[in-house]
Amino acid sequence: MDLEVLNGLLTPKSVAVVGASATQGKIGHTVVKNLVDSNFAGGVFPINPGEDEILGFKCYKSVLDVDQPIDAAILTVPAKFVPGVVEECGKKGIKGLLIITSGFSEVGLVDLEKDLVKTANSYGMRILGPNIVGILSNSDNFNGSFAPFLPFNGSASLVTQSGALLIGIDAATTMKGIGFDKLISVGNMADVNFADLIEWLDQDKNTSVITLHVEGFREGRRVIDVSRKASKPIIALKAGVSAHGAAAAASHTGSLAGSEKIYQSAFVQAGIIQAEDLDNLFDRTLVLSLQPPLKGDNILIITNGGGVGVLATDAAEKYGIPLKFAPEDVQNDLKKYMPEFGSAKNPVDLTGMAGNEWYHDSVKSSYEHPWVHGMVVLYCETAMTDPLGIAKSIKAAVTESGIKDKPVTVSFIGGERSAAAIRWLVENGVPAYSAPDVALNAMAALWEYELIREDINNVPFEVKNVDRKAAYKVIEGARKEGREALTEIEAKRIFEAYDLPVTKSRIATTEDEALKLAKEIGFPIVMKILSPDILHKSDAGGVKVDINSEDEVRQNFNEILKNVKAYKPDAEILGIVIQEMAPWGTEVILGSVNDSTFGPTAMFGLGGIFVEVLKDVTFKVAPFSLKQAKAMIKEIKAAPILEGVRGEKPKDTDMLAETICKYANMIVDLKDEVAESDANPVLLYEKGNGLKVADARIILKKK
Ligand code: COA
Repeated sequence: MDLEVLNGLLTPKSVAVVGASATQGKIGHTVVKNLVDSNFAGGVFPINPGEDEILGFKCYKSVLDVDQPIDAAILTVPAKFVPGVVEECGKKGIKGLLIITSGFSEVGLVDLEKDLVKTANSYGMRILGPNIVGILSNSDNFNGSFAPFLPFNGSASLVTQSGALLIGIDAATTMKGIGFDKLISVGNMADVNFADLIEWLDQDKNTSVITLHVEGFREGRRVIDVSRKASKPIIALKAGVSAHGAAAAASHTGSLAGSEKIYQSAFVQAGIIQAEDLDNLFDRTLVLSLQPPLKGDNILIITNGGGVGVLATDAAEKYGIPLKFAPEDVQNDLKKYMPEFGSAKNPVDLTGMAGNEWYHDSVKSSYEHPWVHGMVVLYCETAMTDPLGIAKSIKAAVTESGIKDKPVTVSFIGGERSAAAIRWLVENGVPAYSAPDVALNAMAALWEYELIREDINNVPFEVKNVDRKAAYKVIEGARKEGREALTEIEAKRIFEAYDLPVTKSRIATTEDEALKLAKEIGFPIVMKILSPDILHKSDAGGVKVDINSEDEVRQNFNEILKNVKAYKPDAEILGIVIQEMAPWGTEVILGSVNDSTFGPTAMFGLGGIFVEVLKDVTFKVAPFSLKQAKAMIKEIKAAPILEGVRGEKPKDTDMLAETICKYANMIVDLKDEVAESDANPVLLYEKGNGLKVADARIILKKK
């Protein structure tokens, strides 16, 4: 990444506004006014051929007339003028363009947009947009947008694909007290995209959390790569989850919103924490920007009300950090700060009598205990207590402890006094919320961050014994015949080339050959007709199973031919497949797609009804580690079946995980050739007995 160019675009020291206007209400006027109102200290150069001065700044006919260097240009001219302006900006030596103008790929003018990028890049310029609101940055006093004002100041930075949402969030930050340094609108992402911005924000000293609102990535794999390397928490809200939403997102940004399940896996692989909705994005951004990660899952809840304690306990379990009873010494200490009828277990109920002192002392003593990894402090407003006083007591206890690596979240349930106390806590670095489950969800985000970081550094599983030449020979053969769909035999040959355990299959064209192959493979065998004209082999009497002797081979060879001729007299018969008959096992399925966003992606699930009706499958962007393949096996709902239920022995999930990795390696290696593939069924046996791919399918990319 060329940092200097992106610095010029994202933190310009001087800007031109091309299409600046003296007319109030026009975007070109608002942008200049916003630069003034945000106290931007750099140079501002309005460009408009019909004006001499705008808002006190000298106005120029063209950027080429400005005799000082300009880092970035904000374009607010109608679309038809944009190409000419881009050319002039290039000649001027400008580094970055913020193209606010709409009317490009989002309305189908893809080529026009591509040409803009080509021109800009040929001058070494980068483009943000087109179709954006702009950039807002507190640390640079820079409102280079038509959003009303700089956001509430803080250390998160937001990148969003929706301009309208950016404007809404901008206003909401002040009301919610959630601080952002930068708000960046990416629009159509013709050039600069999420991957560039994640990389850049990771090194931006004013950003501590990267918050994303995503409709669809452009360079999905690069997003995964740069996010994995990022040293800061990244949190994303993915829009377009519903089928209808995905269609709306695609037309909105001109980008393809990939399958939701693939996105979810990609986020996990990238180490990106997810938010469920906009409120959750705010709540989690707040906690990630104010608190350290949770280093263990011993959470202590302190409350003045048993009821909210129960709600919080339920929430803890729901969000993956179930409560444990506090150790005896912690409990004994806590008993000093509550009446007889309180509870020092977990949740700790100080009772409704708890005032400033009990809150302070109980929080301080338990927070300092090594067993406690994180604390959630809850308070219900009472007539005898002052919420602000309680808030200050909690903050004082945390500060006095001198501990900086243990997170605390807070929930105050009450009216206006509690709202003011929440506000005070947030302003003083303690994430506080109005509902107890939100405080727990926030704590869970810190735990997810810890876990997700542990997982992402896995090195992909190394596959040995790959015969790439053999695989390409099969592909070339099919290409010569103009076929994209490979036969089962061809697909299995490719699978074998990648060391996948397939049931052996060979083609016999004569009875003698059938006999020879059957002996080579070993009884029992299956015999199947091979004909491009017979799709449903069983219906045609073209499949015979459990063949155990030479006599049966001869007999079935002739019977199959007879049946098929009777079924379809003009069918072209290429031969009869002689196949190893694998013992039946638990059916699982492996599949692959070449996803438009993330490239080769593997799917795993249980076969049969589980995949057809329940769609109980999971995805991972390939390649991945053995650990991640094992996680895939555990991710599906039917996972317990593989671990052995009702007295059944556990299945060979170790070999299954290795096979998934080999399969993932195959689809990455053949990504330029293979559009999709599957292994269905894969027969999985008891631990120690491995598995067999009984049927395989590969569809080549159209060339
Ligand atoms: N160089 C400099 N200024 C130029 C110019 C050029 N080559 N060509 C035109 N201008 C001036 C115009 O004269 C005008 O100034 P004026 O008010 O003094 O006449 C100014 O640029 C703006 O042009 P105008 O024709 O008045 O357009 P507009 O302000 O109505 O609309 C856009 C321009 C860019 C705002 C509009 O085309 C647009 O794209 N709107 C949508 C933006 C948006 O919502 N983006 C984000 C979505 S999330």
